[in-house]
Amino acid sequence: MLSAKHIELVKSTIPLLESAGTGITEYFYQRMFKHNPELKHIFNMTNQRTGGQPAALFSAIAAYAKNIDNLAALSGAVERIAHKHTSLNIQPEHYPIVGHHLLATLRELAPEAFTAEVEEAWAAAYGVLAGIFINREEELYQKNANRVGGWLGARQFKLIEKRQESALVTSFIFAPVDDEPVVDYQAGQYLGIKVEPANHEYREMRQYSLSDKPNGKTYRISVKREDSSNPDDEPGTVSNYLHDQVNVGDVLDIFPPAGDFHYVERNEPVVLISAGVGVTPMQSMLEMLASKKSDKPVFYLHACENLAQHSFNDRVQALTSELKLTHHTWYRELDGNEQEALNSQGLGQSNSGSVNSHMGFMNLVPMKADLPLDKGDFYLCGPVAFMRFVKQQLIELGVEDTRIHYEVFGPHSEL
Ligand SMILES: Cc1cc2nc3c(=O)[nH]c(=O)nc-3n(C[C@H](O)[C@H](O)[C@H](O)COP(=O)(O)OP(=O)(O)OC[C@H]3O[C@@H](n4cnc5c(N)ncnc54)[C@H](O)[C@@H]3O)c2cc1C
Ligand code: HEM
Repeated sequence: MLSAKHIELVKSTIPLLESAGTGITEYFYQRMFKHNPELKHIFNMTNQRTGGQPAALFSAIAAYAKNIDNLAALSGAVERIAHKHTSLNIQPEHYPIVGHHLLATLRELAPEAFTAEVEEAWAAAYGVLAGIFINREEELYQKNANRVGGWLGARQFKLIEKRQESALVTSFIFAPVDDEPVVDYQAGQYLGIKVEPANHEYREMRQYSLSDKPNGKTYRISVKREDSSNPDDEPGTVSNYLHDQVNVGDVLDIFPPAGDFHYVERNEPVVLISAGVGVTPMQSMLEMLASKKSDKPVFYLHACENLAQHSFNDRVQALTSELKLTHHTWYRELDGNEQEALNSQGLGQSNSGSVNSHMGFMNLVPMKADLPLDKGDFYLCGPVAFMRFVKQQLIELGVEDTRIHYEVFGPHSEL
């Protein structure tokens, strides 16, 4: 429990935090990795280089300082972060290390403002926040472990099938080495995967959304090969490793399903909106709805570069006969052959009553009369700029914020 004095002192440092900005968390990470280099095996070092994770941590700390007397306002963020932490197997003993470097960072960067009493207040405040995370993470770990097919920590899985879905996306199906059941998940959740690429300095952990419905025996993820847009940058470490070096029969470590972005059943229509590889959680939701023989209206709206990069197209088309499904795709650019192929199916027109293809960026305004704007649930996944644009359109079309749910395939960012 924090005293009123502690709360007041932590709040007094908000202007200091805001003026220093992400400089604080960049310094913090440099300090922590210098003194505790073993943590480089846990953190995604590319997110460090690109600045995504320092920014996510900074906004969490600033939000905490601002809401320290109203922690309920943070519950959504705590839930999201706790899920992500569990997918990386973060343990209570990690918290004092992070706390130590956080306090040392504030002391070293602002020695005058960070007096002994301010430091004491921040130490107490960090302790409270760490306690909230540790408790919630323990609950999530135990809940998972106690369910049929659940487990704690890393479990070995063998790759049993590798299937190309489109030019850049390949699906990987894993079965547990112990041949026991695997725990069910909510459509939209992800797995934490740990790999050790040969000649690579660190073990690497990444999250991948489950792309199929739960079946109690295996897990499917679908991974986009990440190239570097800049010749000076390295191509994506784990995605290329999975595509090029992990073959059927190979074994890797997987942490149990996690994630607060998942399908929630309500007796209302559902709109699944994705771009690029953001299609994976939507595919899981669609498969799950089909397996439950759902009779609700489902809209599957997807944007991708071209026909070659269109994943799961055939499967979604097949599901149009099993669900009350309206399927629209926007292609950014098509080459001559692709154009011809689509023209023969009727580009820009209704195809078999429910499949529609469009050129250019996704635009929901022309189809507003068809969408369940007043009551449907909207699930979004894709690049942040794409989701910001779509969310803005939905808000302008009258959809309430509470009915728009989204996942960022990287350090979280507000839309
Ligand atoms: C909840 C969640 C779910 C996800 N689900 C999926 C999914 O279903 N499918 C999927 O494919 N991915 C998914 N991801 C993304 C996935 O976790 C990885 O981030 C992705 O595969 C890239 O990892 P990587 O190791 O290949 O690339 P990284 O090595 O992490 O690199 C990422 C990108 O940064 C570039 N880069 C490297 N160095 C620099 C630098 N110095 N400066 C700038 N850029 C640089 C790389 O070229 C690459 O394009 C998900 C992520 C999250 C958080
Ligand atoms: C109170 C303390 C902490 C806070 C406020 C915090 C905050 C955050 C936030 C905001 C994210 C991004 C979440 C998202 O993208 O959705 C994150 C991710 C992460 N956190 Fe924490 N965290 C804390 C403690 C820890 C500890 C103790 C560890 C372990 C050493 C840790 C390891 C990680 C890792 C590995 C990620 C994934 C991001 C990446 O690798 O780039 N965190 N945390």
